[in-house]
Amino acid sequence: MNRLRLGVNIDHVATVRNARGGSTPDPMRAAEIALAAGADGITAHLREDRRHISDADMDALAVITRRRGLPLNFEMAVTEEMVAIALRHRPHASCLVAERREELTTEGGLDMVKGHNVIAPQVGRLIAAGIRVSCFIDPDLAQIAAAKSAGAQVVELHVGPYCDAIRMNAAEADHLLEKIKIAAAEAAQLGLEVHAGHGIDFESVRAIASIPELAELNIGHFLIGEAIFVGLAAAIQRMRALMDEARIGRTT
Ligand code: PXP
Repeated sequence: MNRLRLGVNIDHVATVRNARGGSTPDPMRAAEIALAAGADGITAHLREDRRHISDADMDALAVITRRRGLPLNFEMAVTEEMVAIALRHRPHASCLVAERREELTTEGGLDMVKGHNVIAPQVGRLIAAGIRVSCFIDPDLAQIAAAKSAGAQVVELHVGPYCDAIRMNAAEADHLLEKIKIAAAEAAQLGLEVHAGHGIDFESVRAIASIPELAELNIGHFLIGEAIFVGLAAAIQRMRALMDEARIGRTT
């Protein structure tokens, strides 16, 4: 099976920094540690309300990742403002997400079916600028087809409901995992690169990482939380090891 890339989302280092309004902990230091610990890229979500990552963070991340020759995955809502920022920075990838001001985190996938006419032209602008476009969608076949027809090269499957269900309802978790597997196979069949993200932890990563069509996982909140106890590098190295073990069908 192909090696699965790990994108580390550093948003919540900025959340902690912003709680006191100062400059620590520094998300750029987290990005440097993540890359040194084996992350294949850095993911950051510049939200409309700037609740964690700031514009200055995006500027600095663009410099760090370019210097290291590693991908920056810019998570963004499909708005004129965010598209303009992406076009200025030209990150390796833009991951288009649904964003609602009152939500605690990204709650659902982008509705590519309903939003097609608005989203497709923006996908075209980003791709024309050399940015790889990913759409963060629910593992739903109609959404996958709509992402493909909008011109996206990648879909990132929202695995949050599966990750939440593991601890609460095993039968529901099995059902949701099956949907993710079917969605991943369908997306790959259509020629899309397939990623997964949201809510992944040491437990949920095992089944997700063993889905052969997946090329990348984007993981943030759990890793930053775990870093409090074991350090960021150790948390990332453990996640990396679990991903690699899942790929070869071994468990520890
Ligand atoms: N992928 C996408 C598209 C997201 O919106 C998020 C959350 O910002 C993540 C991955 C990472 O999710 P988590 O922080 O729950 O690991």
